[in-house]
Amino acid sequence: MPTASAGPRLIIMCGLPGSGKTTLAKLLESRLGAIRFSPDEWMDALSLNLYDEEKRAKIEALQWKLSQELLAYGLIVIIEWGTWGRSERDTLRLGARALGAAVELHYLSVPEDVLFDRIQRRDLERPPIEREALSRWFAIFQAPTPEEMALFDEPLIANVVADPASGRS
Ligand SMILES: Nc1ncnc2c1ncn2[C@@H]1O[C@H](COP(=O)(O)OP(=O)(O)OP(=O)(O)O)[C@@H](O)[C@H]1O
Ligand SMILES: [Mg+2]
Repeated sequence: MPTASAGPRLIIMCGLPGSGKTTLAKLLESRLGAIRFSPDEWMDALSLNLYDEEKRAKIEALQWKLSQELLAYGLIVIIEWGTWGRSERDTLRLGARALGAAVELHYLSVPEDVLFDRIQRRDLERPPIEREALSRWFAIFQAPTPEEMALFDEPLIANVVADPASGRS
């Protein structure tokens, strides 16, 4: 049963591949009655290569445009793009606040070894993500600092552990 909406709200998932963004986003989607935007799912539906960064950027821009329209209607929107960079997260936070929306940031911090293990088990990407690529991404990922986290609103549902084995994710 979705929780009653307390007004427009943007929920941002932040984390590297395999950190659990989609798993948690699906849980929050069903609990909050939110609209979830996943670039991977749209790319898959359009038969696009998940490594096509140009198309991914276009899809994210389209999803952000739709997100802002839905926030203006007072809805809860979840975006799960990874949001690796501080400036990208700033743009989303300020854009949502300009529409009168609350903004949550869920940072999924997972050790590199665990990420690689999960990515291998999931077996989604073709070709598979290589260990070396993951190490490079780890180095460029800008983890949110406590100072940045303080700029966001308290989550409606906090400390939720999305258990992929429960079948609800
Ligand atoms: N809390 C968790 N504990 C253990 N395994 C998890 C957890 N969350 C997700 N997983 C598993 O890890 C794998 C990756 O999770 P998920 O697809 O949600 O990550 P993601 O951040 O969306 O990755 P990507 O950026 O590649 O889309 C999945 O197989 C999922 O079942
Ligand atoms: Mg995902």
